[in-house]
Amino acid sequence: MSKYLIRAMILPMTGPDDFYEQGEIAVAGDRIVSVGKIGSAPDDFQPDRIIDLPQDVVMPGLINTHTHAAMTMLRGYADDMSLMPWLEEKVWPFEAKMTAEDMYWGSALALCEMIRSGTTTMVDMYMHEEETAQAVLKAGSRAVLSRGMTGFDPVNASKGLEDNIKLFQTYHHAGEGRIKVFFGPHAPYTCPGEFLQEIKREADKLDAGIHIHVAETKSELDIIKERYGKTPVEWLEEQGLFGGQVIAAHCVYLTSKDMDILKQYGVCVAHNPESNMKLNSGTAPITQLLQRGITVGIGTDGTSSNNDLDMFCEMRSASLQQKLVGSPEDLKAYEVLEMATSGGAKVCGFKDLGKIAPGYKADLISIDFTQPHFYPRFSIPSHLVYSAKGPDVRTVMVDGKLLMEDRKLLTLDEKTICQEVEQRAKKIASTFS
Ligand code: NI
Repeated sequence: MSKYLIRAMILPMTGPDDFYEQGEIAVAGDRIVSVGKIGSAPDDFQPDRIIDLPQDVVMPGLINTHTHAAMTMLRGYADDMSLMPWLEEKVWPFEAKMTAEDMYWGSALALCEMIRSGTTTMVDMYMHEEETAQAVLKAGSRAVLSRGMTGFDPVNASKGLEDNIKLFQTYHHAGEGRIKVFFGPHAPYTCPGEFLQEIKREADKLDAGIHIHVAETKSELDIIKERYGKTPVEWLEEQGLFGGQVIAAHCVYLTSKDMDILKQYGVCVAHNPESNMKLNSGTAPITQLLQRGITVGIGTDGTSSNNDLDMFCEMRSASLQQKLVGSPEDLKAYEVLEMATSGGAKVCGFKDLGKIAPGYKADLISIDFTQPHFYPRFSIPSHLVYSAKGPDVRTVMVDGKLLMEDRKLLTLDEKTICQEVEQRAKKIASTFS
């Protein structure tokens, strides 16, 4: 068991006033032992190593609550289109040609980018998710994985559900508990009611959570209204999908009654502002959701609709977008940081993640505050949300193990991963030209 003493400026995310200008965190194994001013570690704590980062801010690792990691393979392949033609003409035909190996390399590339930009946990939904699990195990990061399932083709539907069950049996709690497996019905418009009910029965048997896209676009709203005479949220409630751990990604189009339903069942929302802007999907009512006490996390969505996995950019966009449609007082810096840390932990159902506190998991990142855009240092939360960018991250630790130090990745061979993805993605693209 490794023991570290980390000395830095510390933003523990345990309350808006909690900050240590000269602080220290004691880490033993995968857990935080203590946090406080320098000298606050227990007298008998004997670190194997002291990590001195006096010019860095250390905070909890960021939690990306909705993404499709292996979509890095499609980054920049199709932009500037609206959701349905983008999916039907570009994304789905490309994905149909992706092999399991492609999914591994695409996921590994996503993990390089995530670690570099301070994301320590991702919530993922895609195909061949066992490959993503392997990449996560190699990277040493944390993940909630689900097999994306659609249900109108019965063969695809039962294959998807079989895959998701197998994924759960093989990888749930793998990597010393770093991986969780949820079930991933894609969306209300791609899954018939009976299929959703079947998924929910299987998930309940295994006590597994659900991760689904909900009310993402106006066209989804129209389709569901026409088919069932209800909103997507009302219809999902009728199918019995809610209750238990459910992550509803996007939630752009919600009525007041929909929000009541989400609150009633404790459904958590994954907010993806940049994807929603890029695809012109709309602005999710995040301020209202938070006012009702609904848990909201932040996600990047896949790199085909973003096009990066930088949670610092996403936090800034989340705040600015709410201010644009509401008031400048909406979604303050500290609230956004909570969404990306402790909020994200609640979205995933991790009770010991998202804060720097004794007994919590040692998932920590340090941000290099010597960069010019961090001066003058009036407010650390303000700088982290409105000025910081992914490459400012210097050090990343997950489960008490270093994944990046002084901007060098320690678990992934970044050069090989970039070359593999370059060659594999171009090969698929060439089959369409
Ligand atoms: Ni998505």
